[in-house]
Amino acid sequence: MDFRYSSVRKGILLAGGKGRRLAPLTNAISKQLMPVYDKPMIYYAITNLMLCGIKEILIISDSKNMNLFKNLLGDGNQWGIEISYEIQKKPEGVAHAISLGERFTDKCNLAVALGDNIFHGNDFVNLMRSADSISKGSTVLAYPVRDPKEYGVVKFDHSGNVIDIEEKPELPASQYAITGIYFYDNTVFQRINELTISSRGEIEVTDLNRKYLNDKLLNVKIMGRGMAWLDTGTIDSLQEASFYVKTLEHRQGLKVGCPEEVAWRQGWINDMQLEKLANRLITSGYGTYLLKLLKTKYPR
Ligand code: TTP
Repeated sequence: MDFRYSSVRKGILLAGGKGRRLAPLTNAISKQLMPVYDKPMIYYAITNLMLCGIKEILIISDSKNMNLFKNLLGDGNQWGIEISYEIQKKPEGVAHAISLGERFTDKCNLAVALGDNIFHGNDFVNLMRSADSISKGSTVLAYPVRDPKEYGVVKFDHSGNVIDIEEKPELPASQYAITGIYFYDNTVFQRINELTISSRGEIEVTDLNRKYLNDKLLNVKIMGRGMAWLDTGTIDSLQEASFYVKTLEHRQGLKVGCPEEVAWRQGWINDMQLEKLANRLITSGYGTYLLKLLKTKYPR
């Protein structure tokens, strides 16, 4: 795969929420700072935006955790990107959180990543980039899951056209759940303004996507079964994601969700900068891995 790719979109990464399904782990600290095997959860979503060629990223979280994110990620300069921050005072829903990025987005198109979603698979990056290349409307990714009841679920007609998306349906119309990465054109904020609060008390991303669908501007791309989509919102799924990453990393000797590596492969930081980052992390295997990258002939 050619790692070098650039997008004209900006990225919004949602790292707020209530994290109720992870209590008491989340009583004192944000879900997206929890470890998924060898790195903080938020690294995986940042890395995906970077792989999609996005260099300007807004992190949205609550006031309690914001400084922790700032300490961890800084201004992004170390990875050749720009990171800024916005507080969501109350977790009023995914679409509400997106609305806080209007000034940051400044009429650009947008990719929105949920900070507790992990994606993996070679074709996944190509899929993201093909979604990125569609500049009009919204593009979302759907993935087959055994139990779709917890998600926004796609309803297809007999010819396979998408006719609806239902949020957490009792009787799902298909196995296909909408995953936590969304691509929007710059009409997104106007559309969010038209949304009303749902019965769950939130401004829902499913309602936002349905607005695009009603205007025939929603593209749903199906993620094949060779790709992985894990969400890490429950104790079991958090553990499973850690084991998944551990298994891959042990087998391949390559890291999943490593922003330093992606920045370097994208050509956004040079060898010297990577070496400096590696030396700061040399007390764990993470730094050793980064140093090894500089020595291997593995194609960049
Ligand atoms: P959810 O998993 O739907 O909700 P949650 O994180 O509050 O967890 P729980 O259901 O266990 O209470 O959120 C999906 C993602 O969106 C997650 O990364 C958190 C983020 N989010 C926000 O940033 N702001 C919000 O207002 C909401 C609801 C979620």
